[in-house]
Amino acid sequence: MPTTPKATWAAAALLLATVWTVSGCEKKADTATTGASTGPGALVVGFSQIGAESDWRKANTDSIQSEAAKRGIELRFSDAQQKQENQIKAIRSFIAQGVDVIAFSPVVETGWEPVLREAKAAGIPVVLSDRRVDVTDESLYASFIGSDFKQEGRDAAAWLAEATGHQATIAELVGTPGSAPAIDRGTGFREVIDQHEGMAIVWSQSGNFTRTEGKKAFQAFLKSPEAKEINALYAHNDDMALGAIQAIKEAGLTPGKDILVVSIDGVKQAFKAMVDGELNCTVECNPMIGPQLFDLIEKLAAGDEVPRRVQVEEGVFTQDQAAELIDSRAY
Ligand code: AHR
Repeated sequence: MPTTPKATWAAAALLLATVWTVSGCEKKADTATTGASTGPGALVVGFSQIGAESDWRKANTDSIQSEAAKRGIELRFSDAQQKQENQIKAIRSFIAQGVDVIAFSPVVETGWEPVLREAKAAGIPVVLSDRRVDVTDESLYASFIGSDFKQEGRDAAAWLAEATGHQATIAELVGTPGSAPAIDRGTGFREVIDQHEGMAIVWSQSGNFTRTEGKKAFQAFLKSPEAKEINALYAHNDDMALGAIQAIKEAGLTPGKDILVVSIDGVKQAFKAMVDGELNCTVECNPMIGPQLFDLIEKLAAGDEVPRRVQVEEGVFTQDQAAELIDSRAY
């Protein structure tokens, strides 16, 4: 955890702010400030969000913004619109503003060392939210809160192995290339299917975690001769699965029967698709991490020790549970 006294980091931040203003090379960040009845002395937190690519992400943003408001924390929230360069700009801007703590959800795993070093030099603690980064110096961030993406991939594969009697020819819709969930969900899934001779992935393409791109990629695949071989689709998130389900229906096939569909997130729309018999299984990835995130942030701001890793609990849900649970889904 950074040990720079507040006065030192404030001076460093002021210097950086001056450099930043004078250089004039920074575009105005897409940043909004939220927080109920914040005043002098309120904790100021900069949060760089990836974007709004999925229902999961929108729920995650709501959870973070509403929790900040509830606690009277001034949240400077920046939407990176899926671009790492925008996240780096936002983090630099938070450093220049001298916020108390920076949190962000990294769109991809690599390329963060320089900006994280700048935050450390300014004495501003950083919390990783939802996704991890790949850095050689682990002291560049104070804590990481998020799900176990590898386990989610294993859970999806275990369900499919059971449902198909270990006989599955699988198409895979991959998340954003280079992102932690795309890498780990792919790895975890393969760890399990590699133990079964009758299970293999025959097609794998990115749908970038969005419904539109998931649909487009799967639509194109369904036109190929290889599509006739598959009996299962594994999508790295529900939004891509929902897009693919549309494509399957438009191709005259029955999702959930001709092609079994398993995905990750557990959003309400996925439960609706399970009630309709079109999605077979969703592995939960809980986005409602605002309360735990701000517990960490408040501790860091107070100079208290925090755990390096906070893991989010998750379950696996199938069609037979969907009708009973759909109304209780919070996202
Ligand atoms: O990082 C979490 C993933 O990002 C979610 O599974 C996906 O829906 C989101 O966009």
